[in-house]
Parts: sequence; C-alpha cells; structure tokens
Amino acid sequence: MKKLWGGRFTKTAEEWVDEFGASIPFDQELVEEDIEGSLAHVTMLGECGILPAEDVEKIKDGLLRLLEKAKRGELEFSVAYEDIHLNIEKMLIDDIGSVGGKLHTGRSRNDQVATDMHLYLRKRVKEILSLIRGLQRALVSQAEKHVETIMPGYTHLQRAQPISFAHHLLAYVWMLERDYERFSESLKRINRSPLGAGALAGTTFPINRQRTAELLGFEGIYENSLDAVSDRDFIIEFLSNSSMLMMHLSRLAEELILWSSQEFQFVELDDAFATGSSIMPQKKNPDMAELIRGKTGRVYGHLMALLTVMKGLPLAYNKDMQEDKEGMFDTVKTVIGSLKIFTGMIKTMNVRVDAMEKATKQDFSNATELADYLAAKGMPFREAHEVVGKLVLHCIEQGVFLADLPLEVYKEASPLFEKDIYDALNPRTAVNRRNSAGGTGFAEVRATLAKVKERLGTL
Ligand code: ARG
Repeated sequence: MKKLWGGRFTKTAEEWVDEFGASIPFDQELVEEDIEGSLAHVTMLGECGILPAEDVEKIKDGLLRLLEKAKRGELEFSVAYEDIHLNIEKMLIDDIGSVGGKLHTGRSRNDQVATDMHLYLRKRVKEILSLIRGLQRALVSQAEKHVETIMPGYTHLQRAQPISFAHHLLAYVWMLERDYERFSESLKRINRSPLGAGALAGTTFPINRQRTAELLGFEGIYENSLDAVSDRDFIIEFLSNSSMLMMHLSRLAEELILWSSQEFQFVELDDAFATGSSIMPQKKNPDMAELIRGKTGRVYGHLMALLTVMKGLPLAYNKDMQEDKEGMFDTVKTVIGSLKIFTGMIKTMNVRVDAMEKATKQDFSNATELADYLAAKGMPFREAHEVVGKLVLHCIEQGVFLADLPLEVYKEASPLFEKDIYDALNPRTAVNRRNSAGGTGFAEVRATLAKVKERLGTL
C-alpha cells in the first residue's frame, strides 16, 4: 500500500516489517486528542491566512465527522498507515478529497504526537485527581466512625503503642494529599503546547502558536522547538507520581491483607471485593488488595522503562520515543482502576472494633505509659525505661500482663508507683493522653479530621 510519506521510496516494506514499526495498535487510544489537535491547527491556519477559509471549512467538517465516528467506535484503523496521525489523515483525504492533504501544512507528526499526549495526560490526570479525592473521602468517613476505636500501633510489625484506628486511616489521607499535590503541580508542565514546533526547527509558515495553545486550553507554549518535540519529562513525571501513589496504595493493601487474616481479624472485606478458593471452601481471599499490591510493580516498571528509553537519546525526535505510549496508557488504566477498587473496598469494609480493642489488652504496648509515669514523677526517663523493662521481663516469666501485677510488685520496683498506674495502663487512656500536635489522642484526631474535611471540601 502506498505510504503518505512514500515519495522518495521505490519499494514498499513488507507487512511484517510495517507491523513491527506501527504504533496504531496502541496509539489509537489518542484518536480524540489527535482530532482535537488537528481542529485547532487548521482553525489557526485559516485565521493566519495560510489556508483559504473554504478549505478550512471542508477540513473541519471532515474532522468533526471523524470525531463523531471515533466517539462511536466506528473508525477502522490500518497498520499500513502506521500510527494514529497518518490513519486519521488518510481517512480525512478519503472523505473530503485531496484538500484534506492541506491539514498537515506547517506541522509534523513530531509536534503532533507530543500535543496529543499532552492533551491526553491533562484529561487523565484530572480524572485521577478527582479519584484521589474520592478515596480520601472514603477514608475520612471510615475515620469519622472510628475515632475512639483503638488498635495496636506497630513498629517493626511488633505491637508498639495503642492508637486510634481513625489516626491510622488519616495517615493514608495525608499520603494521598501529597499525591494530589504532586499530580496537580504536574499539570502546569503537562499543560504546555508543543504544537507548531514542526519536525524540530519550527516552520516557514506564519503560524500562531499562541493561538493553537489557546484553542486547546494550554497555559503556554514550549519556548524551544527542539525541546517541544523531544521532551518526555511530563510523561516520566506522571509515571513517577503514579509510582508513588501506587506505593501508598500498596502499603494500605498490605495492611488490609494482614488485617483480614485469621491472625489479625481486624477487618472483614466486603464479599464484593474478595474471592473464594476453588479447592478450600472456607477461604475468603483479599484478591483485589493483593492485585493492587501486585500492579504497583508494573507501574514502577513503566517508569524505569521510559527513563531508560530516554537516556542517551540525541535531540530531537527519535523513533525510540514511540515506546513512551504503552506504559503511559497502562499506567493510566492501572491507577484509575486501583483507585476505584480501593475506594469501594474502604467504603464497604467491616471494622471489627472489638477484636482491635481486645488486641490492645493482650500485649505490652502499654509499657511506655509506665515509663512516662515514672518520668513524669521526676525519675530520669532512661532509669524509668530500665525499671519498666525489668517489670516486663517479670511478667513474661510469670505469663501475665502489666495490668495483672499487684501494686506491691510495682512498689518494690519503685516507690513512685501509686495505684493510679492501673488507669495509666488502660490502653484507652494511653491513646487519649497523646494529644500532642499530630498525635493519636481522641481530641487531636478530631481536630485533624476537621482540618482534613475543610481541605477536601464538603464530604
Ligand atoms: N508514531 C510516532 C510516535 O509515536 C509518531 C511520530 C512519528 N514521527 C516520525 N518522524 N516518525 O512516536
């Protein structure tokens, strides 16, 4: 089949070679953005007097017809036309005749593809931003119900000090807040127009790059044509922000997996987000959480892949850069899917308040309370730590917990102990006394919740 760029060629490539070079199997995802970009370009060509108004009208009509068809999924793409840009141009020419060939005046596929991807990511990043907000809201509404639900807090996955479950959930809300910030800040770099940079050097036609930027809703233009066509930083940044977000989701996924195990029994995931085993009838597996944890790996992979593709590429465009797309599309799909699933999972999970509270009473996570108690009465904290350490050892030998020891034992360990230590040992008291800024005390958690809600808007 004759190529749109076939002028200087005497032979056509074999189909399997075409197939290897083609991006149409995946870049058809850019079809709407490609047509939108062309509409802006041809409008500007008309306004600048580069194309006569009647040609512009014909081209616009043709493009709008193609856009309608694209939205209905009626376009049939062909590998023979390599990529989305040439496929659309070919369809346009087939529809309106040779005047369609004027669309590509003062433009190259190099600035065209970059424009498409800027438009594509701008739309998807906005969607991701709103999905992050949705997940934050789901976490906040669970947190509101569980300010006074206490659970063991962990370090090294060893019970450390009891905390409010809401406090734990809010930690993720803040992580997601940073993700939100990163994605929104990236928009100012995504929202910049490469269109009009031509193949690499600009064009001889009196185009108006500001005008196409304005028509496409970009905030400004790339100031250097070489940079405009060869920059993929905005995609790498997107993959990096996505990796960070997925890392956060993966950590929470891991906690949900642990918490829904027989060993913890802190939460029960809704049946809608779990699956059974084909052999073991008793099982309910947290598949969705595991999958999100697993999919984090592929997003990291896409980030590494594109960093590696770009490394060592001379200016300006190189065909290597066609490799930027599949990872980006897959990341968009993965991130959007993971956020949606996560939101549903959090909204519907059943929190086992009693099991969490029970766990706080069957360990030594109140030992710090005793050390603080002595320190508050003037004993240097280091000595208090030693005294309490011995008491813990004594308990372990006796097979009891700190709250089980009689007052005499405490008195023997230090005369500073009075009977109010039993109150201090109560995990609920322990949680509630930590009202330092950002701490887990109920009052402090309520205050943070109010702050978060204000930031997220009405919930
Ligand atoms: N399909 C190409 C890509 O995705 C479009 C740009 C092609 N430009 C070129 N000079 N071959 O990168």
